[in-house]
Amino acid sequence: MTLLKAVRGTRDLLPPETDLWNRIEATTRRVFARYNFGEIRTPIFEDTSLFARGVGEETDIVSKEMYTWEDRARAQSEKAQSLTLRPENTAGVVRAYIEHKLGESGLLQKLYYIGPQFRRERPQKGRYRQFWQIGAEVIGPPSAGSESPLRDAEVLEMLASFLDELGITGWTLVLNSVGSSTDRPKYIAALREALAPVKDQMSADNQRRAETNPLRVLDSKDPADEAIIATLPKIADYLDDASKAHFAAVLAALDACGVQYEINPRLVRGLDYYTRTTFEFTVGGLSPQRAGAPGTPILGAQNALLGGGRYDGLSEMLGGPKAPGIGFAMGLDRLILTLQAQAASAPEKSAPAFADAFIAPLGEHLNAPALTLARELRRAGLRIELGDGAFRLKKSFEIGNKLARAIILLGEDEQASGILTVKNFATGEQTKIPASELAQALQNR
Ligand code: HAM
Repeated sequence: MTLLKAVRGTRDLLPPETDLWNRIEATTRRVFARYNFGEIRTPIFEDTSLFARGVGEETDIVSKEMYTWEDRARAQSEKAQSLTLRPENTAGVVRAYIEHKLGESGLLQKLYYIGPQFRRERPQKGRYRQFWQIGAEVIGPPSAGSESPLRDAEVLEMLASFLDELGITGWTLVLNSVGSSTDRPKYIAALREALAPVKDQMSADNQRRAETNPLRVLDSKDPADEAIIATLPKIADYLDDASKAHFAAVLAALDACGVQYEINPRLVRGLDYYTRTTFEFTVGGLSPQRAGAPGTPILGAQNALLGGGRYDGLSEMLGGPKAPGIGFAMGLDRLILTLQAQAASAPEKSAPAFADAFIAPLGEHLNAPALTLARELRRAGLRIELGDGAFRLKKSFEIGNKLARAIILLGEDEQASGILTVKNFATGEQTKIPASELAQALQNR
């Protein structure tokens, strides 16, 4: 029989790696709470037209990467519907904002999410078909200050603090402004004009985009087209005064709080909803390899840890009220790859997660008391591995040594006296400790 495996582009996350996932998620919740964000959880699948309208028909995501299916009606009262696994979460958050009339409070909504997203991309290092994002959105009526450049700077400062607190080093913030809905058409017309005489020399994808959505040519990853792309007009030259002033205010606020950045005039990002500020945080560097072999880039061919920007017209595109917003999403898988690579190249490796103690019942009739002891110690906050009375003593010591810092022997004498034998694996020291003092003693080790 052929063995079943996880589907291409998906994978299982196993301990101890999942400890790192949990640590990042805990840091996210702690840091984002300081900025007064609350969590939103939207469904994993949505009506296909949400993404077609929100993300844009001509984007790679919508035109070739979505997992879409016709969902059959199960009752007379239902209609068949085209559904899609969410490729990103911003459209879903804005849909929820409109559906629950969150704008009516008159306040800014500051919402974050952690969850899987799905894109049928070519799998490679740092790129999966099911991947996780940590994202956040700040959205609200203009009267709540949602258009203010201070919101952009605050989000960027939060990200810089978050990456620092996680311990990620060597990140770069890359920024651009793609203009408002009034100055963008002028730029797109200029791009179209500049592309007309050269587009025949470009890849088939870019020839199509030059016609349908010329902005998308700028974020094409095709190296053969790079030389032509470098000659195209820059959006900075087409911004109107209001967009220029907005961008300048974002930069001034970042300068004031000491968050460093680079400006990349070609950073337009692969989703159609962006207006004004767009950004990415990238990380370079190499994963360490065995001696002699050259390192490989931490994130393979990708280098974006996260991306985001402003989307002042998205709510209206989805039929909602005017609700400017700004947000970002980070690839959690890419954060993990980066932390693992940076930890491996750091001089001191963090110790693997060990249990505080391994309990060895000396006989199967002692399994139940061993479980009771484990329950008490775990309730005291200790990390406990429970062995089995069917194991011989030698086997208990071997397993205990692999998993825990100490072994607790629970034989008939210990059961009768309430005094346990504890051996510390690192020092070899063996002590007798009354059960009532055991938790305290293990905590102090
Ligand atoms: P995005 O640039 O499409 O933006 O994705 C954001 C991040 O998700 C990327 O920088 C990357 O770290 C991660 N990512 C994307 N695709 C994959 C993949 N196939 N495998 C692993 N990681 C991936 C958005 O999704 C926007 N919704 C961000 C946003 C929020 N803009 C405003 N608010």
